[in-house]
Amino acid sequence: MAIDTNEFAGKAALVTGTTGIGRAIALRLAAGGAQVTALGIDEAANRELASTAKDQRLTVVAERCDIAEPQAVESAVERAAQRMGGIDILVNAAAIHPFGNVVETEPEIWNRCMAINVGGVYLMARAVIPVMRKRGGGCILNLASVQGYACQKGVAAYAASKGAIHSLTRALALDHAPDRIRVNSISPGSVRTPMLATSAAHFSPEMPEDEVFARFGAAHPLGRIGAPEEIAELAAFLASERGGFCTGSDFVADGGLLARLGVS
Ligand SMILES: NC(=O)c1ccc[n+]([C@@H]2O[C@H](COP(=O)([O-])OP(=O)(O)OC[C@H]3O[C@@H](n4cnc5c(N)ncnc54)[C@H](O)[C@@H]3O)[C@@H](O)[C@H]2O)c1
Repeated sequence: MAIDTNEFAGKAALVTGTTGIGRAIALRLAAGGAQVTALGIDEAANRELASTAKDQRLTVVAERCDIAEPQAVESAVERAAQRMGGIDILVNAAAIHPFGNVVETEPEIWNRCMAINVGGVYLMARAVIPVMRKRGGGCILNLASVQGYACQKGVAAYAASKGAIHSLTRALALDHAPDRIRVNSISPGSVRTPMLATSAAHFSPEMPEDEVFARFGAAHPLGRIGAPEEIAELAAFLASERGGFCTGSDFVADGGLLARLGVS
């Protein structure tokens, strides 16, 4: 599939999460001509992303930031806005995925999950919206999940955080439509990333990863799990003028997972 390398020319994007889906979106936006700053807590992953981008002659600066820390977010956004001359696109992809029902989930884990998965979206949006206003508008994309609609057992904190992202996306979209800022979320099914590898190891520790991924894939009507690049294509559409009439919505990319009744 040919990428329009000019679609995001002159645009500046800030992406959280430097592995998996965040990484793929950072590279996709950069391939479309955007300047990109990627923020992640994993410094090895940040280095890998920056060097992959460089090999592809793309502009991606990757920096360490804990998106649950208000001060760290404020200064990372300020630095990114200064370096890129503004921010037009914000993609919130960083998250953690704890396991357990509520009885098994320690308060610290619950709070950390909410602070990163939901609080991180809040803090990033809070810091970036004033910068977008100066540009006369922008676009925010939040990575939610099918687990915000229907979930498996033993993921209470994660599922709650993803449902909250659906609601926060609508609130942001309504509040900032007058600022010409469009806000949408994306809800993927299973996608081949480090997070899914952790789920595979958690649910089937005795089985090789590829076998577990094949089993996860079989639960999706398309018969496979997704690739991060497929989610990045949807993100690129929503972040571009092509998605110009979309705001306040969730876009599902799940290989048909939510369309299926458990019995069929
Ligand atoms: N992979 C899937 O199957 C799947 C399905 C549905 C939704 N999602 C969502 O997509 C998004 C991307 O997930 P992924 O699959 O690429 O997982 P991933 O684990 O590869 O990426 C998450 C990134 O967030 C970073 N991160 C975690 N805590 C952080 C913090 N405090 N500050 C900064 N960075 C932090 C991690 O270091 C990692 O790079 C997440 O929001 C996830 O919930 C993933």
